[in-house]
Amino acid sequence: MLFRYRGDPSMWAWLLHRLTGVGIFVFLLVHVIDTALISFGRDLYDAMMQLYHHPVFRIGEILLFGAVLFHGINGLRVIVLDFAPQTTVYHRQMLIGVVAAFVLLFVPAAVIMFAQTFTANETWKLGVSDWRSWFPALVATAGIVFVYAPTLNMPQPQLSVRPAGGLELYGWIFIRISGLLLIFLVLGHLTIMHLMDGGVYRINYEFVAQRLSSLFWRTYDFVLLALAIAHGTWGMRNVLLDYIHRPSARLLALSLLYTIVGIVLSLGALVLFTFQPR
Ligand code: HEM
Ligand code: HEM
Repeated sequence: MLFRYRGDPSMWAWLLHRLTGVGIFVFLLVHVIDTALISFGRDLYDAMMQLYHHPVFRIGEILLFGAVLFHGINGLRVIVLDFAPQTTVYHRQMLIGVVAAFVLLFVPAAVIMFAQTFTANETWKLGVSDWRSWFPALVATAGIVFVYAPTLNMPQPQLSVRPAGGLELYGWIFIRISGLLLIFLVLGHLTIMHLMDGGVYRINYEFVAQRLSSLFWRTYDFVLLALAIAHGTWGMRNVLLDYIHRPSARLLALSLLYTIVGIVLSLGALVLFTFQPR
């Protein structure tokens, strides 16, 4: 099942889309809980933020950024193919476009995040912030993608089957519409947190308290929370139903998923509605 589209690049795109979707979802559950620590005061939140500054976690954050970028850009390809099936004739160009857009956006973002890590850590300073040290690698990678990609053997992709009606159809439409909105919301959030003004190194209790004093950012975070949790939960439900077939095991897995999601969503909303800086 996991490898049901064995052998062509759209299979890899499908598998990577699934893995990144599950990965981002799991991160989000942990992230809502770590954000909730803000309610317990300055010391606890700032101590937790030190984890985000650790070089090993920095690698994880760069991978997370890549996962969101890939999932978002590839999701856009899936949405276009689903809503405009006539574009299937360009499926090859679209897949190449996904890889090219990913490389062009991810490499500079990763370089900025690496540079922050090195400059924040005196002993690691490598001068990566100098564009001459990374620009040749960017051009070489983009070159390889453009030369190699057109030689790939790419059969026509199977369009995902649009459910006939009922809850399945609403879920199918919802995951696509919420995906479109999440591109702006999640990438906006990550750009603020990672790419602007020194990235995660300036995030602490004061920073969050100041942001949450604005109704705009509280609302932004709440919409992000609700959409990402709902989108991820419907996606996780589909993934679980794909791999678990016994009715009793399905009931158990889905009950567990909905219970965890219910608790995390309530906690996240509670923090956003009630947090008062001390
Ligand atoms: C950044 C914007 C996003 C876009 C454009 C997007 C798009 C999509 C699309 C179109 C699908 C359906 C794929 C299919 O039916 O073949 C999907 C599935 C999924 N998404 Fe997203 N998504 C985004 C963000 C997220 C986020 C933030 C999460 C986690 C909280 C997430 C988790 C998932 C999961 C778990 C699936 C199910 C994967 C599968 O069935 O293989 N997505 N996404
Ligand atoms: C390592 C990367 C990330 C960092 C450093 C980060 C940082 C933060 C910070 C500082 C807050 C506190 C509130 C604020 O200042 O707006 C926050 C809240 C939030 N973040 Fe992130 N974020 C990251 C990734 C993500 C991703 C990938 C998602 C979505 C899939 C996400 C969704 C949210 C949500 C929904 C909240 C509100 C949580 C609540 O209900 O209290 N974040 N984030």
